[in-house]
Amino acid sequence: MTVNYMKKPLLSCIFALTALASAADERMLFDFENYQTGDMIAMRDLFSSTTESTAEVTADPLNAGNKVLHVTNRSWNTHVELPLDGIGADELTGDYQYIAFDLYRPVSDTDRYKQLSIRIGNDTVYADDGFYDQGDAGQWLGKTYRMKRVSSSSDKLYFGFNSINAEFYIDNVRIISTEEDYDPTDPEQTLRYHADKCGKKIGVAVPAWRIDLNDDNQDITRTIYSNFNMVVAENEMKIDALQPNRGEFNFYSADQLTAFAARHGMDVRGHTLVWHSQVPAWISADGKKNDKGYSRAEMLQIMKDHITTVMTHFKGKVTEWDVVNECLDDDQSAIRTNPSGYTLRKSVWLAAIGDDYLDSAFVYAHRADPEARLYINDYGVEMTGSAKTQAYYNLVKQLQKRGAPIDGVGLQCHLTVGELDSTAFANNVKRYAALGLNCIVTELDISIPDVGDGSVYLKQAEEYRIVTNVMLNNGHCPNLLVWGVKDDMSWRAGEPLLFSSQLAAKPAFFAMRNAYAGYAATTGINVAPAIAPPAALADVYDLGGRPVGKGLTRQQVNSLPKGLYIVNGKVTVVK
Ligand code: XIL
Repeated sequence: MTVNYMKKPLLSCIFALTALASAADERMLFDFENYQTGDMIAMRDLFSSTTESTAEVTADPLNAGNKVLHVTNRSWNTHVELPLDGIGADELTGDYQYIAFDLYRPVSDTDRYKQLSIRIGNDTVYADDGFYDQGDAGQWLGKTYRMKRVSSSSDKLYFGFNSINAEFYIDNVRIISTEEDYDPTDPEQTLRYHADKCGKKIGVAVPAWRIDLNDDNQDITRTIYSNFNMVVAENEMKIDALQPNRGEFNFYSADQLTAFAARHGMDVRGHTLVWHSQVPAWISADGKKNDKGYSRAEMLQIMKDHITTVMTHFKGKVTEWDVVNECLDDDQSAIRTNPSGYTLRKSVWLAAIGDDYLDSAFVYAHRADPEARLYINDYGVEMTGSAKTQAYYNLVKQLQKRGAPIDGVGLQCHLTVGELDSTAFANNVKRYAALGLNCIVTELDISIPDVGDGSVYLKQAEEYRIVTNVMLNNGHCPNLLVWGVKDDMSWRAGEPLLFSSQLAAKPAFFAMRNAYAGYAATTGINVAPAIAPPAALADVYDLGGRPVGKGLTRQQVNSLPKGLYIVNGKVTVVK
């Protein structure tokens, strides 16, 4: 990641921890303020014992009061050798650890394409896989790279561009740590703890078919109930799952989810009553055509029976429903000639019933459970400026005008890094308040198109933070749900979720948690959670595999005699 900015000398306390407003902690390694101007730093040539290259502490070329390191590379593969003073690779590198520094190339350095390599001892923690554009000369640029985890015993950091006749300055070499402060067994470090304090729901789509929801003691279930106060079934409450054959309902998986939620004091969102997709074949083979030739009256009856049976079954357990999902066509170009109009998607419901299937769905839903909050839900409707966003707004206004009992609007938010326009998103969300409706994020995931040097994880985190803040800053936005627990369980490629495939908390997790924590500390309502999140429990064994204790709380684990244990399958030090 290259950031163009006016460099200010950072506070110069070696190894000081600086809390950032956003997703991470920063640890300064080298700001060169404790060196003397003229001090020479060792260089190491990877392939020969002699090097003509030099690294000297000098004044910042743009700000004489600041000390920086001036490097002149006269041979290939030459690295600056910086002493880490006892800090080991284990501490500096990890799954989401970044190394950041400021780079200045004098205008005399005309070759902007260079290959960066960073090592600890002989282990590469980051290396460009080619010669990359390092940005404009004559200005300080901030650089951030995701490091590979290595466990070297060396405490020397090597840093260099693989080039010859290059000249550059570096400053503020620091580590951005995003993984150290998440202990899933400490309730106060979870998302849920902070969202509760804000009086907001933080939800997650759960794939009940691939998780044993009866077992509260796995990493995945623990991650869900520790971090979220709302769940939605990823597939188990869709029409094909609940009514595979006409009149034959199957609530088995969905009931496991509502039982899990009840056990852990979580709300449940229902998704979804009427949709063109995941429709059983007895309604329509492709969800689009009325291929069974149902009459309007018959189809209304089918819709009513489904909604009534399902909502009655889940009454008191499911607090809100997506009544209609994705009813808008992707092509909304007709809005150019009719600015207050909308085009409905071709679906079996539209084909058999007509435009007013929407109104009927909301009315049946309201009759089935007058307490439930009723939502419409769609994608591609998140930001002002797109025809579909405008069509959605037009449709919702129309539905209200026609008297449909609608309580809120769902924005799915299946995004790709770089797509979010924070102003267009906030403006869109805000205008639903004027209609007296809730506006919530129902299916957030933010895909990474290209991992590159890894700094895109920080960009992803920033976008999660922006979406969370919009929900926090608006009273009509009670819920935010992410569409899946961990990256390898996502329906999308591109590591779009809060937890990695190994369940490591990603920068996006910390960004979101910090957003809730920050809001709770300043403006949050600070209520005690209605039901306290359960203390996560741990099974502990000694290194010989002998049981030490089952279902121990975090406090109990911490008060075990000092030593190494296996806690929930991981070797853990109790200090
Ligand atoms: C997706 C699920 O995540 C997948 O497991 C399934 O195969 C297809 O549906 N919009 C929606 C969700 O409203 O129901 C979709 O869920 C994702 C897009």
